[in-house]
Amino acid sequence: MRKNLGSKPYLLPMPVLVIGTYNEDESANAMNVAYASLRDEKTISLYISRSHKTTDNILRTQAFTVGFADLMHLPDADYVGCVSGNTVTDKVDRTGLDPIPSEFVDAPVFDALPISLDCSLLSYDEEDDHVVGKIENVSIDTAYLGEKNAPDTTSMDLLLYNSAENTYQLLGDTVGTPFRGDENLNLMGYGAEENVQEEEPSKENLAKNLPERIARVKAMEKKMNGLQEAQDKLNAALDAFEAYGDESDAFDAYYSSSDWMEDYDADNLGLFPDDLDRGVLNEDIPYDVLGGNYELGRRLQKLARKLLGRSH
Ligand SMILES: Cc1cc2nc3c(=O)[nH]c(=O)nc-3n(C[C@H](O)[C@H](O)[C@H](O)COP(=O)(O)O)c2cc1C
Repeated sequence: MRKNLGSKPYLLPMPVLVIGTYNEDESANAMNVAYASLRDEKTISLYISRSHKTTDNILRTQAFTVGFADLMHLPDADYVGCVSGNTVTDKVDRTGLDPIPSEFVDAPVFDALPISLDCSLLSYDEEDDHVVGKIENVSIDTAYLGEKNAPDTTSMDLLLYNSAENTYQLLGDTVGTPFRGDENLNLMGYGAEENVQEEEPSKENLAKNLPERIARVKAMEKKMNGLQEAQDKLNAALDAFEAYGDESDAFDAYYSSSDWMEDYDADNLGLFPDDLDRGVLNEDIPYDVLGGNYELGRRLQKLARKLLGRSH
């Protein structure tokens, strides 16, 4: 049974895009756009109300960037979709979007986002809020470059806007390959039976390449045992890392506390003995060590996706 819901804005999924433009004073502005699509291979369509600061900026500079919002920047993407640069002039400064100048157009690229399109304005139709931009360049955080320099979107945690439920969601698993016709039918199990012609195993056939068969079993036995050993080692390392969680949190809290600031000042005033180890009061070392947690997280995230069969 089906129920008619009437005319609704339910085109799913929609992207969560952060549009970057420059204000008159060359500070960066950002807004959230979900009504967007590719128009052809070189041009993009966005639908942006005339009243937005972004529209003024695009018409003045003839340029904009399109950043793809990821999970880590969900609060930033939502914030720039709720507050206008017309009223909050420093709204980008309140986010972690990290604007840097585009090398191709007069607009800011948000360095914190995984992928960005630099676009020049082709047209703006005020009647239907339709912005058409030409994609002049695509830039990507190299952490997300996969094989053959192609974007590895499975590791980006890209956000989608669900207009039916008014939620943000994550881009999901890879489940097939477009333009492959019946290969995907087979992949999904349709028609698989007709294509499988299993031969009855016979002692005579299987004995034909026995030495190679034995060598293969030996090699695979070794690989399987090696895998088990590597798993045991990784599990032991993860046990130790997890057990260190409270200490790690305490160090993280100390580094952003007033205690650290005071200890840092005390050190600069020469109050500590010369032989006191105090790498923790260096401006770079603690930052790098805590950054190591982030890098580790990204590495584990990539590994997890691979182990769970999400990397193709
Ligand atoms: C999830 C989401 C999607 C949005 N999509 C659009 C859109 O496609 N077009 C639009 O004109 N405004 C859209 N908005 C609203 C603008 O992002 C918002 O009005 C913003 O404050 C405009 O900023 P500006 O005036 O600084 O350009 C969206 C907001 C959210 C939260």
